[in-house]
Parts: sequence; structure tokens; C-alpha cells
Amino acid sequence: MTFPKEFLWGGATAANQCEGAYLEDGKGLSTADIMTAAAENSPRKITDGIIDGEYYPSHRAVDHYHRFKEDIALFAEMGFKTYRMSIAWSRIFPNGDDEVPNEAGLKHYDEVFDTCLQYGIEPIVTLSHFETPLGLLKYGSWENRKVIDYFLRYCETVFKRYKDKVKYWLTFNEINVLSTKPWMAAGVHSDDEQVRMTTAFHQLLASAKAVQMAHEIDQANQVGMMYNGHVAYPASSDPQDIQQTNDFMHQMLFYADIQCRGHYPAYKLKEFELKGIVLPVQDGDLEELKKGTVDFVSFSYYLTHVVGKDSPLSFTGLNGVKTGYKNPHLQSSQWGWAIDPAGLRYLCNVLYDRYELPLIVVENGLGAVDKVEEDGSIHDSYRIDYVRDHLIELKKAIDIDGIPVMGYTMWGPFDIISASTGEMKKRYGFIYVDVDNDGNGTFERRKKDSFYWYKRVIASNGEVL
Ligand code: BG6
Repeated sequence: MTFPKEFLWGGATAANQCEGAYLEDGKGLSTADIMTAAAENSPRKITDGIIDGEYYPSHRAVDHYHRFKEDIALFAEMGFKTYRMSIAWSRIFPNGDDEVPNEAGLKHYDEVFDTCLQYGIEPIVTLSHFETPLGLLKYGSWENRKVIDYFLRYCETVFKRYKDKVKYWLTFNEINVLSTKPWMAAGVHSDDEQVRMTTAFHQLLASAKAVQMAHEIDQANQVGMMYNGHVAYPASSDPQDIQQTNDFMHQMLFYADIQCRGHYPAYKLKEFELKGIVLPVQDGDLEELKKGTVDFVSFSYYLTHVVGKDSPLSFTGLNGVKTGYKNPHLQSSQWGWAIDPAGLRYLCNVLYDRYELPLIVVENGLGAVDKVEEDGSIHDSYRIDYVRDHLIELKKAIDIDGIPVMGYTMWGPFDIISASTGEMKKRYGFIYVDVDNDGNGTFERRKKDSFYWYKRVIASNGEVL
């Protein structure tokens, strides 16, 4: 038996990509609510408030806010042991800086967690998944140290409220996306390295304080960091390609280095010195980072990169770091992401060798266009192949490399809005949701072939793939 008996099989979502109900029950606007969908060849726009005539996919998304009971019942039917989801901070503190939390928002998540627990599904909760209350922009969002206190007020509220319901927490989704898409990660628009590193420092400090707070409120709490699984291979054996690849990995891994080891690594401090970047460190901050290291490492994994001395290394595009090379050994998804199951095992090794902390894959999956047949069935064998091939490699990480892997939550178990494009047609789900790119449809849920397949996988605890 490869997968441990208590292996957490499940799926993962983010509030702004599935809930909708963007102003319901007192919710305030978040940074996600002013992002349009991408059009052909042009990226998602961030508008100044909500503009008439623009389409904002988060506003209705796939209506999980109203249909969570149905969705969780379908998870239970597949045998899920866990549901990784996020709390929309702006449901709890609508403006971000409110003195008192919004009871209706808190009550909603009580119901969501109760529904999970009723089926024996363990919630894994991301505190901040690509949405910051828009009200915090008046302070400059995460560039301002004040926001740490507002975030901690939110953390304290939810840690206390859900003490008996939630024990697995993740602080910031894909914190290293701060280097690629600072708007999504932190509500900050800037290419300036000083601004980004100040923002990152504030989030890292907030994360370290949140970890300690979670432990103080309940010793049973386990808090993880969440790494966007960027991993790169050198383009050749040319030592310069190897060096460039190492530089690339430093740009991504330094966040994890701090959250797992409790201090800025030497390579980053030297880079700051050479570039004249100064962190706004106050007395006691470095001790906080040290005391607030995480209990486990969670990560997303979709693709690998190829890096070489001629790589532009431009960190643009969510999940789409442009490294300049296509891997000739790999096929790509319809969205151009290199499909690399073996890379999952490789990344598990990179992370475990470096941190020796338990790992959990909290996102992995294939965004693809699905076809609904006349009889309503959806034959998504490509998705089954993708997930199966990745699970085979995950098994090797456990069986051959001896890595403790706590679980696997497939991204978007029901179709949700794509973060990078705002599209609906980039579908990940085992469950089809009848909504199109413009938000039209019945919102009805349908089981795809992969639904039945994943159910068998879980029933056999991963022995039958
Ligand atoms: C991860 C994010 O980067 O990738 C998710 O944490 C996102 O929010 C997922 O949805 C897949 O990306 P996309 O763009 O296909 O939705």
C-alpha cells in the first residue's frame, strides 16, 4: 500500500473563482471583483471600480455560494477526505479595516464547514487566495505595514470562530506569485523591485505571525505555506544554463526558504545589497520570522519550465513565467502549459530535500475544453490520463524517494473560473458546470467520466489508477 491510510484525497478551489454572490450578505468588494475576463489576445483587465458594460467573472462565478451543499454532496459521493477552499476575507471584513466582523459572512462558512464535516470531509482553508479587500487599497494594500494588523484581525476572528471545525490552514496562496502577478497576490500594481520586496516582506511577516497565532489559539492547528510549483530544468549541460536555472529557482524559492527556515537566505540578502533594496524591518521582525515557520509545505503543480543563459526570465503572466524555451520532450495543454508528470516527483524531491517538512499537493489538474454529448455525458479521458500520470509519479515520490506526502487535492473538482484568463471554457472539473465564458447557462452540475474514475481511485486509496 503506497498512500498512507489517512491520505487526504480531495479537490481544491478558491472563493473568488467559484462562489459568486459578490455583494451578498454584506460582502465587500475584493481585488478579484474588478478583474474582467481576458479577451482573445488581451489579458484580464483591472478596472478602476466596477464599470458598466464590463464582464466580471467573479461576480456570479459558478454560484458555489448558493450551491455548496450540492457540490459538497458530490465530493462526498466521490469519497473526498478533504476539501481545500478559501475564505473570502471581504465576506468577513467587507472593507478590510472594519472593527467588527460581518456575522453573515462568518455564518456562511460555518455552514460550509458543517456540511463538510457531516460527510467526514476535512477542510483545508486558505486564508488569502488571490483576493484582498478593495477597501485596503486606500492604504496601498500590502505595501503598507498596517495591512498586516488588519490581516491578523481577520485571522484571529476565523481561527477562533472555526476552532473546532478547521485544523489545516494555509496562509497565502502561491506566495511566490508576488514576483509574477503582484495584483493577484497582494493588490499591488508595480514592477518596481523595491515595492514588490516590501510587499513580500509584509506578507511573509504576516504569515509568520499568523502561524504563531494559529498555534496559540489551538495547538492542534497545522499551518502550511503554499508554493506555486514553479520548477525549471536547464536548457543544456552548458554551465551557464545551469547557473541561470539556479538563479530562476532562487527567485521562486526564496519565499519558501523564509517560510520554512525562518530567515532570508544569503543569496537574497546579497541581491538586495547589490540592487540597493532595503527591507522595512522593525525591531523584533526577524525573530517573528524565525518563530513563525510553517508545519508543512503545500504546493500547486501544473507544468515545468526550461531555462537557459538566453532566457529572458521575465516574470510575467500568472503561471506563465516566460523562460524562452519549450521543452521538446513534452506535450502541452490547450493553454500551452507543458504537461510533465515526472516533474511532480522532481519537485517533491526539490522541496523535501530543502525543507524536510511533510508535503501536500494542493493543486494539480488539466484545464481543457470539454464536450457535452447529446446524452449529457462528458468523456474526458484526457483529464483522467493527466491526473493518473501525475499520481503515478506521486507514488514514486512516496515509494522510492521516501517523501511524506499528506494528500492530493485536484484543482477545480467542479469547473470554476480560470484565474489567469477569467474563462469558463478552461475546465478542470470532475464535475461539469453549465456556464459559458459570458456567464450564460443553467449552472447545472453534471458528472464527467473522470468523476467515476476518481471515485474508484479514492475507494482503492490510490491502488487502482
Ligand atoms: C493556480 C492558482 O495558480 O493555478 C489557482 O492558485 C488557479 O487560483 C490555478 O486557478 C489554475 O490556473 P488557471 O489560470 O488555469 O485557472
